[in-house]
Amino acid sequence: MVSKLATGLVAFAAVASAGTFKRAACPDGVHTARNPACCVFYSLAADLQANLFDKQCGEDAHEVLRLTFHDAIGFSKSGKFKGKGADGSMIIFDEIETAFGANNGIDDSVDSLKPYLTKFPNVTAGDLIQFAGAVGVGNCPGAPRLQFLAGRPNATIPADDGTVPEPQDSVDKILARMADAGFSPDELIALLASHTVARSDHVDPTIQHVPFDTTPFTFDTQIFLEVLLKGVDFPGSPNNTGEALSPLGAEGEMRLQSDFALARDRRTACAWQSMVDNQFLMMANFKLAMAKLAVVGQNVFKLIDCSEAVPVPQPPNGKRATFPAGKTRADLQQACPLPFPVLSADAGSPTKIPVCPNGSFNINDCP
Ligand code: HEM
Repeated sequence: MVSKLATGLVAFAAVASAGTFKRAACPDGVHTARNPACCVFYSLAADLQANLFDKQCGEDAHEVLRLTFHDAIGFSKSGKFKGKGADGSMIIFDEIETAFGANNGIDDSVDSLKPYLTKFPNVTAGDLIQFAGAVGVGNCPGAPRLQFLAGRPNATIPADDGTVPEPQDSVDKILARMADAGFSPDELIALLASHTVARSDHVDPTIQHVPFDTTPFTFDTQIFLEVLLKGVDFPGSPNNTGEALSPLGAEGEMRLQSDFALARDRRTACAWQSMVDNQFLMMANFKLAMAKLAVVGQNVFKLIDCSEAVPVPQPPNGKRATFPAGKTRADLQQACPLPFPVLSADAGSPTKIPVCPNGSFNINDCP
C-alpha cells in the first residue's frame, strides 16, 4: 500500500517537474508557454491591448464582451434553433447574424475583431471572440481573470435568429432561452454582472453611450444596487422597446426592462441581491459562468488551456457599493426577503450622468 503510494508520488513529481521545466519558448522571444499552441495568444493579447483596447475598459472592451455572449448563446439543446455555440459564427456569417434585431450594434465589435483573423491566421474566429472578451474585460478594475481554452473549430453554419434574449422579453422567455442553452437562472444573473461595464447606443436611438450604472468603467457591484432603485424617468425619449424607468431622472442612466424584471422576479431576485456590495462573490460567479459561456457547444476535452495568456486584470478599486447621491434605502425595491447590506450614500447634490459637449452621455471619455 505504502509502496503503491510512493510510486504514485514519484509519478506525480515527474509530471509536476515536467510541467515546471518543459515550457515551450515562444517565437516572440519574450514568453514561454505550457503548450506551444498558447504562444500566439500572448502576441494576440499584446496586439489587442495596443491597437484595439488601448488597455482601457472603454467602448471597445464593452462591445467585445457583449459579443462573447451573442456568439456563444447561438446554441439550442432542444434543437429549436440551429447554431454551434461559441464558434465565431457571428464573424464568419456576419452578414446574416449581425442583421438580427437582437444583434443591433454588434457589427462594431465584429468589424474591429475581423482583421485579427488575417493578422493571426492560426486563430479561429470563436477563439478570437472569447479571448478578446477576456482581455478586454480584464481592463475593467475589479474584473476576474477569465479562463481561456483554445481550439474551437470554425463555424460551419450561422446561428438562427432568436437565440439572443432581448430586453423586452419576459422573464419566462429569457429563462427558457437560457435553459435551452444550458444555463440556470443563477448563472444568467452571474453573467449579467457584465452590465456593470456597459452603455447603450441603440435602445433609445436619440441618445448614445448611456450607462447601465453610474460606474460603467469599473467592474463593481453598483449595477446590482442601482437596478433595484425605484425608477423615476427616462434618460432620453420615453416608450422605447425594452427600456424601463431609470432611477436617476432625466439625466440618468439607462435601465433595461429585462434587468428590471430579473432583479425583481422571485426566481432570480436573491441571486441578484446577493451580489450587491459583494465584489468577490460577483467576481467568482462571473468567472465561473463565463468559463461555461465561452465553451458552449464545444468539446472541452479537445481544447487547450491557455488561460495563462490572459493578462492579469486591474484589481478592484476597494470602494464599497453606495447609493447614488440623493438616494436612500427608501428608494429600494427589494424583492428578496434576505437581509439587505447596510450601505451609505454618496454625498453632494443628486447624482447626474454628465453630458458631453456633443450631447452624448458619458463620464470619463467624451469623444
Ligand atoms: C437577458 C440577457 C441580456 C439581455 C436582454 C441584454 C441586452 C442588452 C442590451 C439591449 C444592450 C444595449 C445594446 C445597445 O443599445 O447598444 C446590452 C449591452 C451590453 N450587454 Fe447585454 N444583455 C443580456 C445579457 C448579457 C450578457 C450575458 C453579457 C455578457 C456576458 C452582456 C454584455 C453586455 C455588454 C458588455 C453590453 C454593453 C455594450 C456596449 O457598451 O457597447 N449582456 N445588453
